[in-house]
Amino acid sequence: MKIERVTTGGGRKLYIETYGCQMNVGDTEIIVAIMQAEGYIYTRNIEDADIILVNTCSIRDNAEQRIWGRLKEFQRYKRAKRSLIVGIVGCMAERLKEQLLEREPIVDIVAGPDSYRDMPRLVEAASAGSKGVNVQLSQEETYGDIRPVRLDSNGVSAFVSIMRGCINMCAYCVVPYTRGIERSRDPQTILREIGEIYEAGYREVTLLGQNVNSYRWKNEAGEVVVDFPRLMEMAAGVAPDLRVRFATSHPKDLSDRLIEVMASHHNICKAIHLPAQSGSSRMLQIMNRKYTREWYLDRIAAIRKAMPDCAITTDLIAGFCTETLEDHAETLSLMREVGYESAFMFKFSLRPNTFAARHMTDDVSEEEKTRRLTEIINLQNELSIASNRRDVGKEFEVLIEGHSKRSEEQLCGRTSQNKMVVFDAARGLKAGDYATVRITDCSSATLFGELV
Ligand code: SAH
Ligand code: SF4
Ligand code: F3S
Repeated sequence: MKIERVTTGGGRKLYIETYGCQMNVGDTEIIVAIMQAEGYIYTRNIEDADIILVNTCSIRDNAEQRIWGRLKEFQRYKRAKRSLIVGIVGCMAERLKEQLLEREPIVDIVAGPDSYRDMPRLVEAASAGSKGVNVQLSQEETYGDIRPVRLDSNGVSAFVSIMRGCINMCAYCVVPYTRGIERSRDPQTILREIGEIYEAGYREVTLLGQNVNSYRWKNEAGEVVVDFPRLMEMAAGVAPDLRVRFATSHPKDLSDRLIEVMASHHNICKAIHLPAQSGSSRMLQIMNRKYTREWYLDRIAAIRKAMPDCAITTDLIAGFCTETLEDHAETLSLMREVGYESAFMFKFSLRPNTFAARHMTDDVSEEEKTRRLTEIINLQNELSIASNRRDVGKEFEVLIEGHSKRSEEQLCGRTSQNKMVVFDAARGLKAGDYATVRITDCSSATLFGELV
């Protein structure tokens, strides 16, 4: 006799749109895993959906504005299918809670980042005509036991979440309020996931968290048994031809030990994303970043000494509260001094409830923020091109990700430094293979080369 488990999904179709950072991309893959186990079917076609979920971001005001705009567009799907359920999940759901239901009546479900196991119940509640809300944050939830369903993967590189939340409380940042307290995932479940990914043919894994280098796993007695450098060693030990990366690291926790571990493993990629936010120690203090310009530059020097070929990238904010022209000039000079390979650059956006919103004034005008940001972007373009030009003539080991966007006759892949390289294909080479490529030319975003 065949016994079938009763599932609540009953083949209903689930569509998810994802905004924000890699953590959200990873969470979407967890939601799909949870829903599939309940008999829902994932669809990429919104027209087919019985349930639309939007995994949202609150980091800057324009991120939220985009989502409000998108919700308006969903009205026509709801008109076409009365039973359609619309859910807002992720950071904006956590930040706005029930207010979302009041402001946008088409919303049936509001679920914060720690409540995804409850998703099937929330959908049931919505199907029965009530609103499903769960914005409870957790001190333990890491979804460690859930196998994410890899959605938009190239089959070569995958992200593995190793921790959740953040306790750093940078004065401008909404993340500690939307994702809750920092917690680390059991290393056994992390290594199991990496092993499975490798078996499935992946050759690159990025360990993910808002502040990965403060990862720490404690035993029952409360002693730290696995810290981040140790976890990196363990990940690098899974297979010699599996590349390991990580994002994002906080400068205050960038230890000599981590640099040592990176330098001594060929398969740990020589790339560090180290958000500076500002080059002015005065601003860094007001931002509550817990390091100075000098400390930051000392960390850069330590990285360069151990790994002269290491790429360094960053995040920068223009026009935080009280930022003067001198502070801004220090950001530009820091950029020159480090010579970043690339950067994510933003205008400061005041977020409700953050320290800045409660205790400071957003006193740099919009116009001036734009002007400063433009200067930062222009300088970074120069630095990126200069960095790419330095690579011309050098040889790199490239992990092939697939055909280049433009031509079937060309392959593309990344260097250990995380730069994209395009080169002419050769017989037998395919996604997931390594190739040695000599760089012959570059643009600001891409290296061009030939097989050696
Ligand atoms: N946890 C990561 C980054 C998280 S958010 C870290 O600390 O490095 C990604 C980036 O968004 C931040 O590094 C910062 O540069 C930017 N950011 C965060 N809050 C912002 C705000 N209120 N306005 C503008 N940019 C912001
Ligand atoms: Fe936000 Fe700071 Fe935490 Fe990064 S470290 S998520 S910027 S509070
Ligand atoms: Fe946005 Fe939340 Fe990530 S606010 S940047 S989706 S942690």
